[in-house]
Amino acid sequence: MRVVVIGASGTIGGAVADALGARHEVVRASRRGPVRVDVTDAASVEALFEGVGAVDAVVCCAESGALAPLEGSSDEEYWSGLGGKLVGQVNLVRRALPWLRDGGSVTLTGGLIPDGLAHATLGHLVNAGLVAFVRAAEAEMPRGVRLNVVSPGWVRETLVALGMDPADGTPAADVARVYAEAVEGAVRGRSLEV
Ligand SMILES: NC(=O)c1ccc[n+]([C@@H]2O[C@H](COP(=O)([O-])OP(=O)(O)OC[C@H]3O[C@@H](n4cnc5c(N)ncnc54)[C@H](OP(=O)(O)O)[C@@H]3O)[C@@H](O)[C@H]2O)c1
Repeated sequence: MRVVVIGASGTIGGAVADALGARHEVVRASRRGPVRVDVTDAASVEALFEGVGAVDAVVCCAESGALAPLEGSSDEEYWSGLGGKLVGQVNLVRRALPWLRDGGSVTLTGGLIPDGLAHATLGHLVNAGLVAFVRAAEAEMPRGVRLNVVSPGWVRETLVALGMDPADGTPAADVARVYAEAVEGAVRGRSLEV
């Protein structure tokens, strides 16, 4: 397969690109990567596919949302995850479809936020929105194209980087296996929790 991984220089995206790269041709993209794209910029996403051409799968592990309090944060700070992680990934699906071969797939990234994590309202909104979008949009996928979202909890390498206890984190390589199942398997319209 020919697979585009967006966010391939990141913690999760790097592990996904490595896992898929063992079996498939992987195009590693990000804002500053060998192949450049910014999922917040529609023209940049168009340019990515014009450059890469037809693909069998698109995986997005890019963007995130900051933790920001409901009261007291600026609008820019509060809504930062909306344009990239939610709207950016939805726009990516819309723009990827014409370039996906029959029976191909798009795999997005959501997340599982631990109970009690402060200032995570926007994150909950974005992740719930992605799950709802994927469930609903599956019915509109053309030519057998499958759409899923992987919803990871804390990744072990991220907890280590943040100086937090890594005990409850899942290794990035294990998270990457779930993305690989989404790309190589038959699942459709699902949130895959890991
Ligand atoms: N790590 C965790 O514990 C965890 C847990 C749950 C959910 N998640 C979710 O998983 C996703 C990836 O997390 P991560 O920890 O792997 O992030 P990360 O290590 O910060 O990597 C982010 C990747 O995305 C690229 N990127 C960022 N903004 C982009 C944009 N606008 N357009 C294109 N590429 C962009 C970055 O490269 P450039 O800077 O070169 O663009 C990088 O390759 C996020 O949505 C995050 O919320 C992560």
